[in-house]
Formats: sequence, structure tokens, C-alpha cells
Amino acid sequence: MSSQNSKALITINSLHKLKSKGEKFACLTAYEATLGKIISQSGVEVILVGDSLGMVIQGHESTLPVTMQDLIYHLQNVSRGNINSHLMADMPFMSYATKETALSNATLLMQNGAHSVKLEGGRWICDLTSTLSQRGIPVCAHMGLTPQSINRIGGYFVQGRDTDKQDEMIAEAKDLESAGASILLLECVPDDLARKITQSLSIPVIGIGAGPSTDGQVMVIHDLLGISCLEQPPKFIKNFLAENDSVQSAISAYVRAIKEQKFPAKEHTFF
Ligand code: KIV
Repeated sequence: MSSQNSKALITINSLHKLKSKGEKFACLTAYEATLGKIISQSGVEVILVGDSLGMVIQGHESTLPVTMQDLIYHLQNVSRGNINSHLMADMPFMSYATKETALSNATLLMQNGAHSVKLEGGRWICDLTSTLSQRGIPVCAHMGLTPQSINRIGGYFVQGRDTDKQDEMIAEAKDLESAGASILLLECVPDDLARKITQSLSIPVIGIGAGPSTDGQVMVIHDLLGISCLEQPPKFIKNFLAENDSVQSAISAYVRAIKEQKFPAKEHTFF
């Protein structure tokens, strides 16, 4: 493809610019080439090859069984389909348990098509974040509900409801930014906490179940297409295929709804 026809790759800088202009951006998970291509063509800025693949692709009850080999296989497939979206790859459970494993596994993800890596955790991942970031690997720090810790948390529920916890999470988010995180992702937190964190950071914040104030929104592609395997889908997801007649138009509607700040609406938000 000639450079005249190719669209410029969305970079971390592009996302920072969108935040500074107050423009919202879209993120969506993908696990294979065809949907990766459609998602990228639909104007989704960030594609996440998430370890949610353990649940929606492999049928496990949690993300814990996902291995580096699994992640790399799906990342390579999405990378072949991707046009110009920023490709973020999840670091699977225990793949960043020590500095050494984090370095070698993040390196593998970057060498297999990722433009950034996502790690779950708060203050304890600050050191890992600095290590990776100093070596040229952009890090997205995933806070709030962190599914890899489901056995410690005890269930999939909203995090950061009380004031002490909220203050702690705001401080942790600032520490992660200072440590060199390029992006923050907040999962399942109340709207006011997400707003405070987004406003107090200069890095872009992506939300899922975090209300409308974050700079970007992310959803699992299966949820957007109304094929969630969960018996009781969480309130923050929306089936965009229900109002559209093709996968392409459902994804475009998702992007539009985010840009026009129509999604997430009140009914998708925790207060
Ligand atoms: O693994 C994943 O898809 C994720 C999103 C739900 C944020 O982490």
C-alpha cells in the first residue's frame, strides 16, 4: 500500500492530543484478523487484544488460564488485520509477576505487533511501569476491577465506593502517571471517582463501567454484538447490533455514540 493511501497510525501522542482537545476516543477488543480489520476501518482508535479472550474465545470462567502463547497467537492475528489503530496487548496473569518476566514478556508482545501493553494493578505496578516505559514500552495501567485478581477480590463488583478507597485510588493513579504510565484504564468504578481521576491526570484515561467522563471507552466486541456469554450481562454494556443491520454499522454506531457522548448513558453508569 502506498503511503499516500495509508492512514497514519494512531499513536500514544494521538491519544494525548485527543484528550487535550476534549475529544472522546473509542477502544474495542479484538482477537482475530477479520474483526480487527473491520474495527480499525470503523475508526476505533485503540484495539485491545484482551485476556478477556480466555472467557469469550476459550470459554473459561475467568481470565486466569490465558497464557503468553495464547495472547501472542491472537495478537499476531489481529495485527495482520489492523489498518491504523493503536494495538494494545494485555499481559496475562503472572506474566509480569517479577521485573524479569515482565521485561521478557512485554518484549515478546511488542515484537509480535503490540504498540503498548496493559498491566493490572495499582501502586505495586509502579516499578514495573517505570522499567518498561524507560525501555520504550508504553504501559496502560488497569485499575478498579482487575479481573486477574478475582480470587482475592471475591467477585465482579464496583470498586472504590467509599471515600478512603477513592482517595487511595486517586493517589495511586497519580503515582502511576509519575512512574511513566502512558494510559490508564478504569474498570467498574463510580462515575464521580472516574471523573476525578480523569481530570487529575494528563495521560488519557479509558473507562469500562466507569461512566461518561473518561477520555475513551472500551468494550468487549462480543458484548457490543449482543453475544455475551454471561448469564446476566453487566449494566455497562450495550448491544449495538440490536439497532443496526450489520457488524460494520454496529461498530461505527459505537464509535459515533462515544464521540457524540451518547454512550455510556446514565443507565450504563455506576453512581
Ligand atoms: O481483557 C479485556 O478485554 C479487558 C477489557 C475488558 C478492559 O481488560
